[in-house]
Amino acid sequence: MEDFNSNRIHLDQNDLLVSKTDLKGKITYCNKIFMKVAGYQEDELLGKPHNIVRHKDMPKIVFKLLWDRVKSGNEIFAFVKNRTKNGGYYWVYANVTPSIDDRGNIVGYYSVRRKVNEENLNLIEELYSSLIKKEKEGGMESSMQYLNNLLKTKGVTYDEFIASVQG
Ligand SMILES: Cc1cc2nc3c(=O)[nH]c(=O)nc-3n(C[C@H](O)[C@H](O)[C@H](O)COP(=O)(O)O)c2cc1C
Repeated sequence: MEDFNSNRIHLDQNDLLVSKTDLKGKITYCNKIFMKVAGYQEDELLGKPHNIVRHKDMPKIVFKLLWDRVKSGNEIFAFVKNRTKNGGYYWVYANVTPSIDDRGNIVGYYSVRRKVNEENLNLIEELYSSLIKKEKEGGMESSMQYLNNLLKTKGVTYDEFIASVQG
């Protein structure tokens, strides 16, 4: 973990930030590096909704995709900008997955996050700022349409696009 300027935290190559939630998205576990980067003590995070680290630059549509995927039993990869306790931020490439018990029931969710590919981060920053603009104008329907059009133009799925950006 390195702090190059006052408010952005850069993850190290080998950092893996892990958290787990219950079915409603309340935090049930975080590893040490997650707490260190987020700037919280464990007791400030456990039991809290995961949006405690939400950054205002994140479009709503990304979280809708995330929840739709994991609730249906599937994983998702997403670029996420999170806010730290003291008002800083950090970018992660996150893999969010349902935890499934031996009867096949979803019992919670967990996320493993790593360093983003800096070379292509500008693509995500531009995309997210366009999505937020669309959401301000026409809500999530509008950002969903914008995202779908972009993917259609590129001839790729969301998963293919995200994987290609991370490289
Ligand atoms: C396992 C898991 C991990 C999550 N991690 C994050 C995260 O790191 N940052 C974040 O903003 N939201 C995360 N979320 C999504 C939040 O639950 C929430 O949907 C999001 O912050 C948007 O907040 P809002 O629904 O109050 O607008 C995660 C959800 C799950 C299930």
